[in-house]
Amino acid sequence: MTREPFNIVILISGGGTNLQALINASSRSSFQIRAVISNSASAEGLDRAKRSGIDTFVIEHGSFDSRIAFEKCLAAKIREISPNLIVLAGFMRVLGSKFISIFRGKIINIHPSLLPKYPGLNTHQRALEDKESIHGVTVHFVTDELDGGPIIAQDSVPVLSSDTTETLAARVLEREHVIYPKVVEALAAGKIRVRNEDA
Ligand code: GRF
Repeated sequence: MTREPFNIVILISGGGTNLQALINASSRSSFQIRAVISNSASAEGLDRAKRSGIDTFVIEHGSFDSRIAFEKCLAAKIREISPNLIVLAGFMRVLGSKFISIFRGKIINIHPSLLPKYPGLNTHQRALEDKESIHGVTVHFVTDELDGGPIIAQDSVPVLSSDTTETLAARVLEREHVIYPKVVEALAAGKIRVRNEDA
């Protein structure tokens, strides 16, 4: 019996190195990247997607009167594509509860810290300031709570005394590029399921 393709849409805002890791993994995985959507026309990740023949869409939040209007347009585009999963990969907009409720249990995010530590921005800087000895990455379902949804997977890295935010960020990013494709593959293979009450 052949399995239905597991289609994903990836939302980005910038460089798209996690997107690239997912593109690289997709050829040997059971998920297909149906489209990449960016809220910024200058996101480098758009070129990565185009080079791999993936459909790209730009929906610039700045061209809407309100967050609700932006998210309505974003939701309409995603509904048109009808993916099994929405993968946030460096998507730098906080999504509102209306949007999240439409796609409940179908949105995942990668966050550069060991949640629940350091939700929000500047995670590497904050970990250094707190003299943490380990830091890392979390993949989680997206809920109304910022960086607070159910955790799917985490990986850690050591914090070295010589670290700057840049060296620490680079060490975490390397782990991001491994863990994110693995999680998407596990979801595609049905190895991870969401209970409605969780996400
Ligand atoms: C990553 O560190 C990710 O965890 C965070 O934003 C960064 C995006 O990097 N949410 P890239 O655009 O995938 O290179």
